Amino acid sequence: MRKKIVAGNWKMNLDYNEGLGVFSEIINMVKDEVTGAQEAIICSPFIHIHSLVQLAKGYHKVAVGAQNAHQAEAGAYTGETSARMIKSVGAAYVILGHSERRQYFGESNELLAKKTDTVLKHDLRPIFCIGETLQEREANQHFDVIKAQLAEGVFHLDAAQFAKLVLAYEPVWAIGTGVTATSAQAQEIHAFIRKEIAAQYGQEVADNTTILYGGSCTPKNAPELFAQPDIDGGLIGGASLKSRDFVDIIKAFN
Ligand code: PGA
Repeated sequence: MRKKIVAGNWKMNLDYNEGLGVFSEIINMVKDEVTGAQEAIICSPFIHIHSLVQLAKGYHKVAVGAQNAHQAEAGAYTGETSARMIKSVGAAYVILGHSERRQYFGESNELLAKKTDTVLKHDLRPIFCIGETLQEREANQHFDVIKAQLAEGVFHLDAAQFAKLVLAYEPVWAIGTGVTATSAQAQEIHAFIRKEIAAQYGQEVADNTTILYGGSCTPKNAPELFAQPDIDGGLIGGASLKSRDFVDIIKAFN
């Protein structure tokens, strides 16, 4: 059975001490509230990762991730961080293809395919984000956009590699806007994504793939979203900066 996951994406927020504070609060709360086949992940800025991993020791259902990695192994790429470095501080996951990376840093499906390969090579699990813009939805192109993001970004992987992925559907118009996709809109896309995976890798792989919803997910709307058959949790931006909200979103599974 596929894992239920709530992952926080802190983006470029919280200084070092603030991050450690929020994470400590989350750990203290989740130890009683993350149950069964569930996992809580915090994807922090690079500077927090090592310390968060130390704080998470002994809590098997809490993991730490990065928000980006460079596609190259190492070298003259001033300001960049490699997958090997991220692995060496104990992170387990790396967000790839977030719409902010696609939009502000020009990350294409082709580049993201390379980043996916490098991250998997270092035994990290990508949380691979896909989703359409408002313009694309209004032009009724959302299914084609998502199909292309999957085909060009991750469908070059073999089934064993693909099984390491977590996918996240994040409609760009819902990120940080306070506008959430309705549970029916999200379910429709999640079912479509699972169908595409089944066509590529077979039904068993599709059934085992965790597909998260992201975009203005809150403790209020999470229960209805997570009750949908193809929504296996959330990728949480703003609400992951507040420990109580983040943990209440985790509790939405129960
Ligand atoms: P949001 O961000 O929850 O603040 O909308 C989600 C994301 O970008 O992952």
